[in-house]
Amino acid sequence: MAQLWGGRFQGEISELAWKFNASIYFDKRLINQDVLGSKAHVKMLAKQGIISDEECLSIHKGLDSIIKDVEDGKLEITDKYEDIHSFIEANLIERIGDAGKKMHTGRSRNDQVALDMRLYTREEVRHTGETLFNLLKVLDNLMREHIDTYMPGFTHLQKAQPVTLAHHLGAYFEMFKRDATRLCDIYKRMNYCPLGAGALAGTTYPLDREFVALQLGFYGPTVNSMDSVSDRDYLIEFLSALSLIMMHLSRFSEEVIIWNSNEYNFVTIDDAYSTGSSIMPQKKNPDIAELVRGKTGRVYGSLNSLLVTMKGIPLAYDKDMQEDKEVSFDAIDNTKNCIILFTDMLRSMKFNKDVMEKSAIRGFTDATDAADYLVKKGVPFRDAHGIIGRIVLNCIEKNCGISDLSLDELKSFSDKFENDIYEAISLKNIIEKRLTIGAPSKASMKKALEKNKEFLDLFWTRCQSPIYPDLESDD
Ligand code: ARG
Repeated sequence: MAQLWGGRFQGEISELAWKFNASIYFDKRLINQDVLGSKAHVKMLAKQGIISDEECLSIHKGLDSIIKDVEDGKLEITDKYEDIHSFIEANLIERIGDAGKKMHTGRSRNDQVALDMRLYTREEVRHTGETLFNLLKVLDNLMREHIDTYMPGFTHLQKAQPVTLAHHLGAYFEMFKRDATRLCDIYKRMNYCPLGAGALAGTTYPLDREFVALQLGFYGPTVNSMDSVSDRDYLIEFLSALSLIMMHLSRFSEEVIIWNSNEYNFVTIDDAYSTGSSIMPQKKNPDIAELVRGKTGRVYGSLNSLLVTMKGIPLAYDKDMQEDKEVSFDAIDNTKNCIILFTDMLRSMKFNKDVMEKSAIRGFTDATDAADYLVKKGVPFRDAHGIIGRIVLNCIEKNCGISDLSLDELKSFSDKFENDIYEAISLKNIIEKRLTIGAPSKASMKKALEKNKEFLDLFWTRCQSPIYPDLESDD
């Protein structure tokens, strides 16, 4: 047990308490962020004359050698240390001696860990944005390919009105687009540097917090030192954004599972994203989609866990906050994996166009348009609704569709029917007549596709920029 404190203690911490208290098991993944923050910190200490330039250089070299040795497998991160911060400091002192003991001047682990988590989360917000970009690209390509692929649209999982596959996928494009802009909002709000807040009340050293903030790519330093060490809002916002992404992925997965069922057969999932059964030779199961749906609950759990952890914590830092890491890492890893796998599954999925189109015709998806036809011939809508309802009942008895009835049969329900009814309720007409903004006709969808392109161009350019985007002003 190599602890950072000692002077004040007479006895040893119990082994169980040491293990219970330690975070090295999971915060070791913050090693690069910790070193980055320490390097910026000591550079500022040297600039301010708090340590010498030679000491700063020696600390930089020592920190680089630690990273290299860990990467090369020469130095193992063990639970002899409480956390990644003490592991690095102890190893640094071992390597460079007294200069290493000066690294922590004007700093506390409270602002140090606040910085590390922010740096880590900031990168993960970007990564998540990039994976979403790939999903949006795949959706956009599929939309372009399937602008003429007809399928039934559903409400209550009952056939409602015909739409196109491009239109259906376009709904998901909008959801993931909002998710992407949400990440930009979070980045914008969180990108301030907490280092220099000290334990909670700043420090008497003449630190240049602005210098450190700019070194590390932040917009500037945080304003209040107590808030700086105890703020985990940005993580909660991120977990909430991840939960929304998962909610969208989960709904989509549910549809893929339904579409892939023997009864629907709208899609065929590629073998690379299906699994078989140990007993039933015929089975090809949509496990990836099911797992995405399943992991959604787990990500919600992380959000809920951190919300509950934070709700009773008095200012400023309390150890409860160490609990922010495992749940966040789990949610971040899982959501990114889900986006990547779902994207690959979607890209390789086969859409059975003929089956979808046949299904779009059956099930009275033309009933609304048949009623609208009568309205255009002067029948009040409520009466038209009643007439078509009776026709549907009649068709169910005969096991046929509305357009299978002869004109004489139709006229027995209303003398307003003419020969043009058949054209009016043809599948193509039903869709192509829907010309309003956001509707499934080709003309409307082409406008949506233009917007897709604008968004994707803008989002990608911003993803590439060193200071991550504020998309709000462009919306
Ligand atoms: N492992 C701690 C965490 O993750 C680091 C901060 C420790 N600070 C302290 N005062 N004990 O929150």
